[in-house]
Amino acid sequence: MGNTKGPHRVALFAGAIAIGAATALTGVSPALAAPVNVAGGSLDWGFKASFRAYIGTGNGTPPIAVSDGATRNSDGTFDFASKGGKYDTAAGTATVNYKGTVVFSYPAHFFQITLANPTLVVDGDGTGSLLADVELVNGGAVASDLEQAEIASVVTTAPTVTGGDISFSNLASTLTASGAAAFAGFYAAGSDLDPITATASAEETTEPTDPTDPTDPTDPTDPTDPTDPEPGNGSASQTIKAAVTGGALTLTSAGSNVALSAATPGQTATGALNSVTVSDLRGTNSGWDLVGQVTEFSSTGGGKIPAANLGWKPSAAVVDSSLVDAAGVSNKVTAGNPVAPGTGLGASRTLCSAETGSSLGSSTCGAALELGIPESSAAGEYSAVLTLTLA
Ligand code: HEM
Repeated sequence: MGNTKGPHRVALFAGAIAIGAATALTGVSPALAAPVNVAGGSLDWGFKASFRAYIGTGNGTPPIAVSDGATRNSDGTFDFASKGGKYDTAAGTATVNYKGTVVFSYPAHFFQITLANPTLVVDGDGTGSLLADVELVNGGAVASDLEQAEIASVVTTAPTVTGGDISFSNLASTLTASGAAAFAGFYAAGSDLDPITATASAEETTEPTDPTDPTDPTDPTDPTDPTDPEPGNGSASQTIKAAVTGGALTLTSAGSNVALSAATPGQTATGALNSVTVSDLRGTNSGWDLVGQVTEFSSTGGGKIPAANLGWKPSAAVVDSSLVDAAGVSNKVTAGNPVAPGTGLGASRTLCSAETGSSLGSSTCGAALELGIPESSAAGEYSAVLTLTLA
């Protein structure tokens, strides 16, 4: 039995499969230059989880009741429907009014607190506030009755703008002094409250124009008449449309040859697969699988090493982009399971995959390779072809 010092080569073939565009997505953004009126949206807030827990163990019938546009989320927080307001995406400011009433009742502790009609105010400088109507009834008498009082200070972020609608996610909120008073001082001002998540969408129609108003930009002017003056004031808006058509699902490889380390029979030759990039630009978010299988290794002298002796340890990572993904988009890639030499790539094995619902974008996949050289192997330079198939 002779020893070999020569490198064992694995030739890599990366197959690229293009799948044609199936869907065309159309994004429409309303004009964003000026404040817009709120037409829809909701505010999710639980006030304070520990307070809900305290009330929930009490004897109220029920302890917590919602009405007038407020509903209860499955996690126990409240959802208030929007009822108006304005926001300005350019300035990053918003005042959005939400409606709904939540009544916390604890008869055994002689109190009832009604929290209603929250308003989220975002100042555009990282601060904001939550206003609400809060009534405290203690021992059957109204002890405090606030209307649209600032009950929480809010740490705000720039809104996420999607198609002209805005959303704020998990804004930290703390109790103000007036909020603390509305809860009979059981919480100190500055106490942490639940985070606030809010959305607001714009009215689709523009404000009606007044045909009798001489400054009305719709006042008929003849664009072909050079003496006809344009109105001096007014605002302009432009609707921006972009048709996003689906692209392809593609596979590219950083190289086509892999040289494994030299090894003697009984040892393991190691190396690394050239990194491959999967780009899923179909826009369908329908997932993909990248699998690999290798042929039998053969040497120029007629020696053979079965394909099952090539094992791999896959790795995978999403390719970062400087662009901002829309809220809720998650691009995830999962590396396949490692397979050991002896039970390796003679059969088709998964290198990496992305599940339906999280396959928008690009990922890179690689693998550490290990070729177990049987002790019965003749010396020589062996090679095989690994085929990667994306579907
Ligand atoms: C105006 C009337 C009252 C208000 C607004 C009020 C409010 C509160 C608040 C905000 C808490 C803190 C809950 C938390 O976040 O952990 C609390 C706790 C508590 N309250 Fe009241 N309360 C009132 C009356 C009472 C009365 C009359 C009693 C006793 C009969 C009582 C007994 C308790 C107890 C024992 C706790 C501690 C609960 C725990 O840690 O699980 N409260 N209350």
